[in-house]
Amino acid sequence: MFNIILFGPPGSGKGTQSEKLISRYGLKHLSTGDLLRSEIAGQTPLGMEAKSFMDKGQLVPDEVVIGMISTALEANPGAKGFLFDGFPRTEAQSEALDKLLKLKQTEIGVVLALIVSEEELVKRLLQRGLTSGRSDDNGEEVVRARITEYHKKTSVVADYYARFNKVVHVPGEGSVDEIFNNLCVEIDKRLK
Ligand code: AP5
Ligand code: MG
Repeated sequence: MFNIILFGPPGSGKGTQSEKLISRYGLKHLSTGDLLRSEIAGQTPLGMEAKSFMDKGQLVPDEVVIGMISTALEANPGAKGFLFDGFPRTEAQSEALDKLLKLKQTEIGVVLALIVSEEELVKRLLQRGLTSGRSDDNGEEVVRARITEYHKKTSVVADYYARFNKVVHVPGEGSVDEIFNNLCVEIDKRLK
């Protein structure tokens, strides 16, 4: 089993690259953002609770997302590996994930961290906001709030995994294919 965390700030291209990576490596894609948006679409109690945080660009409480990931891991016993997108986002989530993977006798193989300038992030998200229908893409204030939340709570996740020598930084600007190729090079080195 080979498990990957695709890491980076809002708008860095995690979702875009995840689609390509899962099809190349046959991994199961677990995006907490997508899981939360489907809870919102289904108007579940969990979705309604999460929406109040997401609309403000704030992180949803750890217990909520850890519970969702735990359920998703259980639901995919035969997976070749998992690609985590948008999770973990706090040190507590990182520790919880390590424990969950240990129970499955596996671990994180690599954390691929996409590097994109703040100016480019804001530009991409506002552009997407014109058509995405995502309330957290709608306006510079909420987009910047997400980036601030990333610096305050999420960037420490890279430090956490750096302690175990698992982090590789990959430039996230340029063409989608070029970035994808660079990600594949890093994965292939570790698969050998
Ligand atoms: P989430 O859904 O994870 O959103 P995010 O991290 O804010 O990031 P995005 O999905 O907006 O960006 P991305 O990095 O996937 O980039 P994308 O490929 O889309 O989280 C949303 C919210 O849910 C959070 O704010 C929080 O409230 C909650 N949440 C989720 N997980 C949580 C957790 N673990 N704990 C607590 N709360 C959680 O690309 C962005 C745009 O750029 C697209 O339009 C794309 O077409 C474009 N683009 C991509 N690549 C390129 C390129 N190379 N050049 C030019 N444009 C590009
Ligand atoms: Mg995404």
